[in-house]
Amino acid sequence: MWGGRFGEEPDVLFIEFGKSISFDARLYPYDIDCTAAWSDALLEAGVLSGSEHSRIDEALELIEREMADGSFEFKPSDEDIHTAIERRLVELVGTVGGKVRTGRSRNDQVACDMRLFVLHACELVGMATEELQETLIERAQETVDVAIPGHTHLQQAQPVLLGHVLLAFVHMLERDLSLLLEADASADSLPLGSGALAGTPVPVDREVLASRLGFSAVSQNSVDAVSDRDFVCATLFALTMIMSHLSRLSEQIILWCSQEFGLVQLDDAWATGSSLMPQKKNPDGPELIRGKTGRVTGSLVSVLTMLKGLPLAYNRDLQEDKEPLFDAVDTVLDSLAVMQGTVSTMRFDRQRARELTRSGFMTATDLADFLVSRELDFPEAHRIVGEVVHYCLKNDKTLWDLDAEELKKFSPLLGEEAAGWLSVESSLARRGAIGGTAPREVARQLDELRRMIEGDEPPPL
Ligand code: ARG
Repeated sequence: MWGGRFGEEPDVLFIEFGKSISFDARLYPYDIDCTAAWSDALLEAGVLSGSEHSRIDEALELIEREMADGSFEFKPSDEDIHTAIERRLVELVGTVGGKVRTGRSRNDQVACDMRLFVLHACELVGMATEELQETLIERAQETVDVAIPGHTHLQQAQPVLLGHVLLAFVHMLERDLSLLLEADASADSLPLGSGALAGTPVPVDREVLASRLGFSAVSQNSVDAVSDRDFVCATLFALTMIMSHLSRLSEQIILWCSQEFGLVQLDDAWATGSSLMPQKKNPDGPELIRGKTGRVTGSLVSVLTMLKGLPLAYNRDLQEDKEPLFDAVDTVLDSLAVMQGTVSTMRFDRQRARELTRSGFMTATDLADFLVSRELDFPEAHRIVGEVVHYCLKNDKTLWDLDAEELKKFSPLLGEEAAGWLSVESSLARRGAIGGTAPREVARQLDELRRMIEGDEPPPL
């Protein structure tokens, strides 16, 4: 490719060190599209004749088929996917194949391939994310009448509806979809036609080239365009946030299916056993997702670190953008699929949910709220209820065990009516402001989310 200037062959070890073919071969569909579009542009610019152009076109189609069915023979000299395709093109059509290199560099080519890959990846990840949202909404609908203990600091706090908790994850994923749209928008600009860094001398119509490849904009600065990988960072950030949210959902599921919580039974198809302990049923899926989150976060950090301090324009360091990006996309797609299988099949134990909400002091705040409704200031109400709880703990009682007489000892305001505020149902029902866990409000939120999902813009392209 560049042997003319050199007197000696490169060192064998060094050649191996620079190769990216083992991981960038998957860019072949985008590289072939870019090359076909560039060959169209060369035809229009008068660089290729009609017959040269059709021979190249046919050869590219054959190469695409060879790649797809696995019959493409890679040679030891294939440094990366771009050189492999050009080498095969020349084998098939002779030296005219080399003409596609006119006015184009691997620098604008690889930038273009990567953007097309990102646009495709954002679409796939977006679709899988929406599918999981739909499943979570279905499961929330099913469990909208089930109260469970809500936690802060992993200590029982206040009762909430299970459906309400599941919908929290739908909101997280909705924010991730916005991040994916932003990543998509940052990739949606054509770098091809920037040459190595200074622009192409071939009079190509870059606007036409852009629409041919499905880009809605054309890069406006060739020096920036060949070395801009902000779209890779934006994508990795969106993927990291998805993993972070899947990891939190995983942790929730892992806790729920422990014997101590006992709220969830995983389906046999989505759980594993132990080679030693015959009774075990382990949540390996959510655990792996939680574990793989570190790996995706690492990919983001690795690309950010690689980019820092690069002088303009293209530098070979940029080749290191691929493995982290590809690995993150694959990991997120796999994790979304496993989460989808897990969430859609797990069973909730309603009886256990009832038991868990009937113990403890989760409606203590409601007793304080009752005192506030009787004109007491909240700090004073908090102090009185604190004493009630202290009394219960000392006497091995729950709030529900206390009768009106016992309650009155703590404040004349407490009595029959106050006891009515202590039930889980009344606690839930009182939280009807927007975003609260009252059954009517959660039903409204469900409706809203369902509409939001259905009315969603088509998956990012
Ligand atoms: N494999 C290279 C990459 O991924 C392609 C670009 C090579 N350009 C160059 N000037 N060596 O970045």
